[in-house]
Amino acid sequence: MTRDKVVLAYSGGLDTSVAIRWLQDRGLDVVALTVDVGQPGSLGAIKEKAHRLGAKAYVVDARREFAEQYVLPALAANAMYEGQYPLSTALARPLIGKHLVAVAQREGASFIAHGCTGKGNDQVRFDLCTTALAPDLTVIAPAREWGMTREEEIAYAKERGIPVPVDDGSPYSTDENLWGRSIECGVLEDPRIEPPEEVYAWTTSPAAAPDEPGNVTVRFEGGKPTSLQGKPMDFVDLIATLSELAGRHGVGRIDHVESRVVGIKSREVYECPAATVLVKAHQALEALVLPRDVLEFQRIVASRYAGLVYDGLWFTPLREALDAFVSSTQDRVTGDVSVKLFKGTATVVGRASPYSLYDHALATYSQGDRFRQSMAEGFIYVWGLPARTWAAAGAKAPASTKLVKAAKRAK
Ligand code: ARG
Repeated sequence: MTRDKVVLAYSGGLDTSVAIRWLQDRGLDVVALTVDVGQPGSLGAIKEKAHRLGAKAYVVDARREFAEQYVLPALAANAMYEGQYPLSTALARPLIGKHLVAVAQREGASFIAHGCTGKGNDQVRFDLCTTALAPDLTVIAPAREWGMTREEEIAYAKERGIPVPVDDGSPYSTDENLWGRSIECGVLEDPRIEPPEEVYAWTTSPAAAPDEPGNVTVRFEGGKPTSLQGKPMDFVDLIATLSELAGRHGVGRIDHVESRVVGIKSREVYECPAATVLVKAHQALEALVLPRDVLEFQRIVASRYAGLVYDGLWFTPLREALDAFVSSTQDRVTGDVSVKLFKGTATVVGRASPYSLYDHALATYSQGDRFRQSMAEGFIYVWGLPARTWAAAGAKAPASTKLVKAAKRAK
């Protein structure tokens, strides 16, 4: 009899390594899938480890797909969860989920598995993604079921010859990809305490950052960053190069008490240097080329978009509809933005576009003013008509106002 197969999202870490054994102990053939979204570490070594644990192993390089199809639409939408978090972890989940489904279908597996606990957002994202793409597959989340503490897990691993990573003494749980790095647990669980320097890996402490500011110029074409410092670059390389550059200046540290999908407030720390710079630069360029009402509506869309990405609703009609709206606004989001990086801050200091709506002759208070100031009076007369009418109606009806007030007092 052939055994049922399960495709597991495999990071090579302790949780998912233990999960391989745990699933095998339940009579399943495990296929380990590692998706490269720009996390550090050797994928070859991860594959090797999966083999040693008796699993078939796949590694998929999805960096370009991640950048182009997940990060880019979120950047175009200026998506920041609760105004702060560029959704680095959240954006990678549906991509990994999509690859899990594809491998499950190729392998004829009936199950998908991930190493998420029952308290976080990532379980919601993986599960919903599977529901949307392949409702016939069943999701298993070993860490949601096994009820082991950290110590019990380590003991379980040692008993079964699963290598326990040497850095397992680290009290932090981290997740990394091209778009950012997430850190939680340990002392971070006390939101009153400043994150210790040791939690950071991508960014220099602002206090130790260079005393000379750094300048970056980003070119956007149709809403997409296409060159850095005047050099055309593939989007993946651009993000990686900018991460380095901005990280050196201490840019991109985020300390956030976050509202999780499951209702828990949690303290999360992020390092997202490239995302911080690119979202600011993109917004600055939009401010130059888009009309006020579109910008206003974009802000509503940005918040809704961030919410649905966070909530695991990537594969939904709403996300597709919002993408269509956002992309319809990006045609003219072309131009150059200069950003100054200095001791943890990124400040837009210049912007230019062939589609700029900025008209010096209209804006200037100096020579060459073409704005017809006398016309403003008539404009304000009409613009203020509702206010004038409202005030007049209030002044005209003292009796009824008195009646209403008397009735309120009588209650
Ligand atoms: N709270 C973030 C999110 O929901 C990041 C979670 C990162 N996971 C981790 N193991 N540190 O997107």
